Amino acid sequence: MNQPGFSFEIQHTDGQTLARRGVFTTPHGPVDTPAFMPVGTVATVKGMTIDQLRATGSQMILGNTYHLALRPGEEVIRDLGGLHNFMGWDGPILTDSGGFQLFSLARMTQVTDQGAVFRSHIDGSQLELTPERAIAIQEALGSDVAMVLDHVLALPASREAMEDAVERTRVWAARCQEAATRDDQAQFAIVQGGLDPELRSRSAEGLKELDFAGYAIGGLSVGEAPAEMYTAIEATGPHLPRHRPCYLMGVGRPIDLLEAVARGVDLFDCVMPTRNGRNALAFTAEGTLRLRNLKFQRDERPLEADCPCPACRHSRGYLRHLFMAGEMLGPILLTAHNLTYYQRLMAGARAAIEVGNFAEYRKAAIAGWSEDSP
Ligand code: GUN
Ligand code: ZN
Repeated sequence: MNQPGFSFEIQHTDGQTLARRGVFTTPHGPVDTPAFMPVGTVATVKGMTIDQLRATGSQMILGNTYHLALRPGEEVIRDLGGLHNFMGWDGPILTDSGGFQLFSLARMTQVTDQGAVFRSHIDGSQLELTPERAIAIQEALGSDVAMVLDHVLALPASREAMEDAVERTRVWAARCQEAATRDDQAQFAIVQGGLDPELRSRSAEGLKELDFAGYAIGGLSVGEAPAEMYTAIEATGPHLPRHRPCYLMGVGRPIDLLEAVARGVDLFDCVMPTRNGRNALAFTAEGTLRLRNLKFQRDERPLEADCPCPACRHSRGYLRHLFMAGEMLGPILLTAHNLTYYQRLMAGARAAIEVGNFAEYRKAAIAGWSEDSP
């Protein structure tokens, strides 16, 4: 599907890997890819003002259908001008459909071909999420990209259950497409199929026929080993249309991002930089730093000498003190630093692809992470 206001242009490919450098354009502006989207589950990237968020280098952010539909309700957000106006972010926004939250958060009572009936994790009330309802909510939110409702399974699952989930995800994707009424919102389909290469290719081929604006790889980072995740990406990629953006959902560590970029992935989201930042874990080019550690008490150095973020105007000793004293500035500064770190990692990847040395960039980055890794 080609919609006005949306395009994906691949500007460079890397000679040695499947990495590509592109621009995904949306009605709220362009996104340089490969790109990392900070997670703003409930219409806020926790602790960040909009200006602080923009200063991290982030161009596109993610919101969650499931959470926003429960609280404050999509109609409230629609009446306050849609999600962009509501939260004050005028850049691109992608909303996840709720498929993953049904699996991870809600006490799901049942999934049928019709949809999923579940209980709210907030007040226990019973709700139903169908493909049509997932799209109606996301249209009320007014995100630039809506994700289709998918059926995510806990692994390991039986072959039969996995086949059913793949087929249901395909049928639900077609229903989401049918339900669309806004031409200023694109939809991305989600490939499932667990760790089975045959089911991954079946899922991707079935969705490719429906011709979506973009394709996500879902159902990963649910406890499998990194090598298994990379293999699942390799099994999926060749079955997706290469002229569409490819989005790896909910991943991951810095190394996972680089390994996935090398396998052709363009978009990422993950709570890792924000959640870990709130918990005193800093990402740096030398590896992760646990700032509560006593060894940082008198450390005069910034987290990273060349980082432009507001945390790096302070010493590690000061940042440690903020966490030990329970001060709210600690989580705020570390969130800003970690997002800046992720965005600089992606900017470096884009620059490397442009000059055809992404493989060297990946190798050097990985070699640098000598400290702890998360
Ligand atoms: N976020 C992380 N993984 C997934 C997935 O498989 N489906 C959806 N909808 N969201 C996700
Ligand atoms: Zn910094």
